[in-house]
Amino acid sequence: MARIWLAGDTHGEVDLDKVTEYFDDLILYDEVTKEDYLIILGDVGVCWDGGAGDAFVQECLHNLPCTVLFIDGNHENFDLLEQYPEEEWHGGNVQYIQEDIIHLMRGQVYEIGGRRFFTFGGGNSIDRMMRTTGISWWPEEMPSDIEYSEGLRNLEHVGNHVDYILTHTCPEHVAEQLVPIMYPGEEPLQQYLEEISKSVDFDTWYFGHWHMDEEVEGRYICLWNEIVELEE
Ligand SMILES: [Fe+2]
Repeated sequence: MARIWLAGDTHGEVDLDKVTEYFDDLILYDEVTKEDYLIILGDVGVCWDGGAGDAFVQECLHNLPCTVLFIDGNHENFDLLEQYPEEEWHGGNVQYIQEDIIHLMRGQVYEIGGRRFFTFGGGNSIDRMMRTTGISWWPEEMPSDIEYSEGLRNLEHVGNHVDYILTHTCPEHVAEQLVPIMYPGEEPLQQYLEEISKSVDFDTWYFGHWHMDEEVEGRYICLWNEIVELEE
């Protein structure tokens, strides 16, 4: 069975060391193959400057021993990302950035390594005022109504039952327990995820976004520096 690891935000090369060092230190590194997966939970920045920075980050990810899957966060260049065609992979839509760097899109259900995942990227940038539209900020960081609907439809197709939910931000009641001050702007997405948390049967929900390693109610897990391997 494929091995699957999860990691929080990597922000281009800024926070990528935690991933490269984790695999460098991994016992039995030689047994990891491109049939195994690392899933990064948004703010990945593999498409950011469209130039040398992206090439470097993608080379680092390509050099990992496993295939890299990622959901989008709020810090992605959505103009670049949308240029990649959508293809079907493991039951859901993806975009291949490279053969071994694959974008898991919003509202999709995938069967990966005998486990079922629901993915939903996106989030709100609280530092929006310091960013420039089309250069360092894109309105597509927040999902569209079409993406919200597609997610619900795809969940319905699998009887609202998955093993894992992977998102960038988290349901509203989880955010309220993690963050003392809530910045406005993310409510529609958090409330959408809140509805999913009530209507979908799932084992564990992993997310990034908040830059902390915390667990809420035993099954909502925010990842930042910690890398987690899913049990088989
Ligand atoms: Fe982030």
